[in-house]
Amino acid sequence: MLVTGAAGQVGSELARLDWPSGYEIAALTKAQMDISSTESILTGLESVKPDIVINAAAYTAVDKAEENSELAHTVNATSVELLARATALNDIGLIHISTDYVFDGESDHWYAETDPPNPTGVYGDSKLAGEEPVLGMGGMVARTSWVYGALAPNFVQTMRRLANERTEISVVSDQYGCPTAAVDIARAIRDVLLVDQRPTGLFHMAAPDDATWWDLAVAAIDQIEPKVDVRVNKITTAQYPTPAARPKNSRLNSDKLFESFGVRLQPWRKALVEVSAELNAKQAKDSGASS
Ligand SMILES: NC(=O)c1ccc[n+]([C@@H]2O[C@H](COP(=O)([O-])OP(=O)(O)OC[C@H]3O[C@@H](n4cnc5c(N)ncnc54)[C@H](OP(=O)(O)O)[C@@H]3O)[C@@H](O)[C@H]2O)c1
Repeated sequence: MLVTGAAGQVGSELARLDWPSGYEIAALTKAQMDISSTESILTGLESVKPDIVINAAAYTAVDKAEENSELAHTVNATSVELLARATALNDIGLIHISTDYVFDGESDHWYAETDPPNPTGVYGDSKLAGEEPVLGMGGMVARTSWVYGALAPNFVQTMRRLANERTEISVVSDQYGCPTAAVDIARAIRDVLLVDQRPTGLFHMAAPDDATWWDLAVAAIDQIEPKVDVRVNKITTAQYPTPAARPKNSRLNSDKLFESFGVRLQPWRKALVEVSAELNAKQAKDSGASS
């Protein structure tokens, strides 16, 4: 297998995951394989000769995308089309990761794959445009949400840092989603491949339970060792304006993934304990090194 975007949250978890014997993984960073270059894609495919490509590369800066629309569309749509064509032409399977931000968040139910997307920002728009060529050429699109982990920057790590620096922080409490550990996405992809080596179609792949950003912040801070004393205030989306609008409901219903492959991700609080243990160990090591 060839993994793109190997320095990112999901790419790095795919790279370090335990794969069963018979599975070999080549995880390539942007410097090693730039998916916006046809030449780079073809060189990568030629050198690795994979059976499957897992595309974890993306332009994920949701707010910056509003200004950098061209780059977001290049990486998240045009490049994915290049990758989809190159893999289809060479009879290579493709698993591509997409996002809950393809939805506008106006629904009052959990989003299923059959719900019509309607992105409200450049990032979601570019990611939706990237889904089409993958599905059109027989690949698998796995939409996930609110990704966090121990290896690359994310909301959980930001909350832990702020909790160590401040006595009070304010977090949005009126947006709902499914916080999903990057390691669980990697495991789910592995487990899908163990069932079907050429998965196709659109699937939601997120934690089975929901939270607000405030819930996630409080739970993440609660896991910090040694304990910190910080007040976490609830604020509304209106009190925290961002360049890109966020869906107020981006809960993904991942039942189809379970029905098709028997794969279900663990509840987010359980996954958070696992990720936090690694972050605590890193924090202890870093503070030991600096004292
Ligand atoms: N993060 C979330 O909360 C979230 C939520 C829903 C869905 N997703 C989706 O999940 C997937 C993985 O996200 P993530 O959180 O792991 O993202 P991430 O941590 O931002 O990693 C993305 C990686 O892609 C690399 N990259 C950017 N442009 C590239 C290019 N042209 N060629 C090759 N690599 C390139 C980035 O490198 P540089 O950093 O050097 O640019 C980065 O290492 C993405 O498809 C994302 O849209 C993420």
